[in-house]
Amino acid sequence: MAVITAGRLENGGAAVRLHNLRRTFDDLVVINRLTLDIRAGEFLAILGPSGCGKSTLLRLIARLVEPTTGTVEVTPADLKFHTAYVFQDAHLLPWRTVLENTVLPLELMGTDTAESAARARAALAEVGLAEAEVRYPAQLSGGMRMRVSLARALVTQPKLLLLDEPFAALDEITRFRLDIRLRELWLERGMTVIFVTHSITEAAFLADRAVVLTRKGGGIKMDRRLALPEIRRNELRASPEFGREMEALLAAMEEES
Ligand SMILES: Nc1ncnc2c1ncn2[C@@H]1O[C@H](COP(=O)(O)OP(=O)(O)OP(=O)(O)O)[C@@H](O)[C@H]1O
Ligand SMILES: [Mg+2]
Repeated sequence: MAVITAGRLENGGAAVRLHNLRRTFDDLVVINRLTLDIRAGEFLAILGPSGCGKSTLLRLIARLVEPTTGTVEVTPADLKFHTAYVFQDAHLLPWRTVLENTVLPLELMGTDTAESAARARAALAEVGLAEAEVRYPAQLSGGMRMRVSLARALVTQPKLLLLDEPFAALDEITRFRLDIRLRELWLERGMTVIFVTHSITEAAFLADRAVVLTRKGGGIKMDRRLALPEIRRNELRASPEFGREMEALLAAMEEES
């Protein structure tokens, strides 16, 4: 897998400002009075117990769900093709090859065919799948399918990358590898990343800032900046500073479960 060679891109990310956000489904209040500023280029993890509203919050940011009241402001505003969303399931089209799946967002944007293929190949190389472009999803492991999903998200050069528990179904070693690669890609590209996870370890390993949502009430329990090095390697997982961050996140999560 690639090693970081270049410095971080400046201004590569979108800023997200959530103000007094509220979303209800009938009588159920899922998000309530939630105000949060996410800086351009930040890596934010959103944690919280099952059913607390993490996916709803991510969908609100992606405008897949409308707020009941309050506002979602993304800057720069014209982000139609600059936001990418990665779901827990890879959601690949089984009748298309790896390359054809990866090229899809560019096809939808009407990008020139030759240019699209070149960009899709570059995105596949970035996730270590250059050799697999002619295979079909059924011929891939779960980790490979998720890497295709990541490549498909990266192919449009998004300024805002939203991920909803993307690695939750994978074995731990594959997950650790993808965590490292995602963090590298973030460092290389300077995009804003918002990563939803159940896993305290994954949040602490990946992010620079972690927000823990309350189990009920739709608000924020904790908003913490993580005091950890910029480049993350597996050794970090056994370090005292990692332990300290885990402890703080665990305490907030425990109060909410
Ligand atoms: N479209 C919808 N219609 C009705 N209720 C919904 C809808 N979407 C979400 N909900 C409800 O909102 C609450 C929060 O759901 P959400 O999927 O955001 O939680 P989550 O934190 O992502 O949970 P998990 O960790 O299990 O994925 C749940 O009670 C869910 O049933
Ligand atoms: Mg969810």
